[in-house]
Amino acid sequence: MNWKVPLADLHFGPDEYQAVRRVLESGWISMGPETELFECEFAEYLGVGHAVALSSGTAALHLALMALGIGPGHEVIVPSLTFVATVNAIVYTGATPVFADISSAEDWNVSPKQIEQLVTPETKALMLVHYGGFPCRLDRIKEIAVDRGLKIIEDAAHAPGAVFRGKKLGTWGDVGCFSFFSNKNMTTAEGGMAVTEDSDVAAALRTLRSHGMTSLTWDRHRGHSFSYDVVRTGYNYRIDEIRSAIGRSQLARLEENNSLRREITRTTRKLLAQEDMLSIPFPEEDLDNCSCHIFPILLKCASIRDSFMAFMKQQGIQTSIHYPPVHRFTAYADIWSGELPVTEDIASRMVTLPLFPGMNRDQIDLIASSVASFGRTMRNL
Ligand SMILES: Cc1ncc(COP(=O)(O)O)c(C=O)c1O
Repeated sequence: MNWKVPLADLHFGPDEYQAVRRVLESGWISMGPETELFECEFAEYLGVGHAVALSSGTAALHLALMALGIGPGHEVIVPSLTFVATVNAIVYTGATPVFADISSAEDWNVSPKQIEQLVTPETKALMLVHYGGFPCRLDRIKEIAVDRGLKIIEDAAHAPGAVFRGKKLGTWGDVGCFSFFSNKNMTTAEGGMAVTEDSDVAAALRTLRSHGMTSLTWDRHRGHSFSYDVVRTGYNYRIDEIRSAIGRSQLARLEENNSLRREITRTTRKLLAQEDMLSIPFPEEDLDNCSCHIFPILLKCASIRDSFMAFMKQQGIQTSIHYPPVHRFTAYADIWSGELPVTEDIASRMVTLPLFPGMNRDQIDLIASSVASFGRTMRNL
């Protein structure tokens, strides 16, 4: 489909092309020096002790849980309004996901009150998701975690560069997890990063990333070791040099891209402010600290969503839904029978509009005029 305004778009410049060429010409393409630099630069940018580059955000979530000792018999509290990978990662470890509702129609992040209600003696961790790059109520949630002795894992897939109270998201909990999938604020096509202050956790992440081995092919190539032991059952969750080199270039342009996202979000919000068929979640003032990963709107009425999305498609505008709630998927029907009224209401009425740093004023205007035109049709019915 040839969209006039796609949902997301890539933003590569000469640096990314040069980065790929540099690696191809270096003669070393699996994990090595570019990855070490990518990890150092990412850790420095976030202001955190350790960063471990991985093959995906999902791998980061899985290894974060494993490195913190989460496994069978443990419960992990998680929102249902997230991408399914957040919850799948919990299931990989043998632990049980316990779904928490979101706060309100204005705040789509997990409700601290719900978390408090769901904690049991089996709860070992909270898996937070910063929806769209808007920070969860980290101050309150941290208090609960400290009080109850719970670990915090941040799924910061939407939130590289976002900040809460002067501290970057992903650095508030025990481990922060990032995704570099192609639609993310910074991308390596596929890729991820886990960050932590704890050097034992970082060591576990590194061991688990590469089959549980004590040395890498890169170490042996450099003559740093001849052999290896396998100290636990690990995975092949390694990134490679090509993706790490692209990641370094993308990291260098992240601040600029995030501020373009914020500007476009502010303009679009202003243009849509008078539309009575919808509301826009999260307060305007929260944009200053947000990475503005996506642009969600909330329709007044669930019954108009299909016709709205079809109308936008006719105008050449791609829309989506972030997210169908995980607890409603067939795969999760067996493990969850509770109700999440706010999540279910929001998930039935939400639509994601396009947002990417290179979006031009004509594209923004087309979105706004198309929404207005649909609104007029509805009023005249
Ligand atoms: C909230 C969230 N968590 C986890 C993931 C998984 O990341 P990845 O696709 O890199 O495995 C994604 C994105 O795809 C996501 O949006």
